[in-house]
Amino acid sequence: MLKRLFSSTKGAMESYNASFEPLFASKGLTSAVGNTPLVKLNRISDEIGRNIYGKAEWMNPGGSVKDRAALFFIEEAEKRGLIKPGGTIVEGTAGNTGIGLAHVARSKGYNVVIYMPNTQAPSKIQTLKLLGCEVYPVPVVPFDNPENFNHQAKRHAERLENAYWTNQFDNLDNRMAHIKMTGPEIYKQLQGKVHAFTCSLGTGGTWCGTSRYLKTQNPEIKCYVAEPPGSCVYSYVKTGGKSLERSGSSFTEGIGQGRITNNVAQDIELADDAFLIPDEESIAMLYRLLDEEGIYVGGTSALNVVAAVRAAKLLPEQSNIVTILADSAHKYSDRIFSKSWLQSKNLYEAIPDKLRKYAILD
Ligand SMILES: Cc1ncc(COP(=O)(O)O)c(C=O)c1O
Repeated sequence: MLKRLFSSTKGAMESYNASFEPLFASKGLTSAVGNTPLVKLNRISDEIGRNIYGKAEWMNPGGSVKDRAALFFIEEAEKRGLIKPGGTIVEGTAGNTGIGLAHVARSKGYNVVIYMPNTQAPSKIQTLKLLGCEVYPVPVVPFDNPENFNHQAKRHAERLENAYWTNQFDNLDNRMAHIKMTGPEIYKQLQGKVHAFTCSLGTGGTWCGTSRYLKTQNPEIKCYVAEPPGSCVYSYVKTGGKSLERSGSSFTEGIGQGRITNNVAQDIELADDAFLIPDEESIAMLYRLLDEEGIYVGGTSALNVVAAVRAAKLLPEQSNIVTILADSAHKYSDRIFSKSWLQSKNLYEAIPDKLRKYAILD
């Protein structure tokens, strides 16, 4: 009887996914950061005859690509003796880095203080508070103003005993997280058959670290910068470092730099070219990813996919192009699926008629 039961269930118990490698986070939450799936975008790839792959960064414990930098900031500070048990991590962040820091810090017993621009999605502020952070939303002022959120974070850390300002824009542990994790993961996932990489830049950690690793493996891999309106990195690349011109603004959050950060400065010369992606194309792609690929991501991920398609068109058929799906749409859903919000940004008309059914909020 028992024998019959075993033989009848054996076939049914075969692994669903032949390439399934079970992940085991034996050291706790911090060891669950990274090792995200590389997802082929089937419909988009079929349409252009090249393979577009998105790194599913929303699957990190804190829900974004920034968990990787957060992990490196804290673990490198520990190694260098810059933070001791019970200490406080302080950061200026548009949200995702703070969320990543909060998860890693909670799991290691640190406190977190966050300064952020008060223009960010309210749900990001709420999430940080729910994760136990002390949050200071502050008015948006340029970087050269002492009241800029980053400078306020630095001063806050200086006022406390046993506190560490993670300084995501200029701290190179950020880029190192992608040299040591994201780049190797991508390269391994495609068994070295990577032809191009592109993504947008906030601090620049993801683009720089990943591009540095990939180009070190194979200098033939093309690395393209992808930028929203309002970023200076686009004109910086296009003019070979002569111009920092920027104009316009974007609905995307967490990208679009106004200066060349220390992370960007390390590797920007690796850029083969830069693309400026209009918001209209990013929002249309965001809805298309949902409708055709079943992928629910935020604006920066959609922009990255638009850039990946542009990169693909410069490469031979069957090339493999990789980009970053930085986070999910959850944090932004009350904006990007709201008809009135989209109309207020002149973006509703950019969404193809047949996809407007997803804009279900008023
Ligand atoms: C949603 C999202 N996408 C992209 C980025 C940019 O990543 P990086 O800072 O590594 O350039 C960020 C940074 O905060 C982000 O929050």
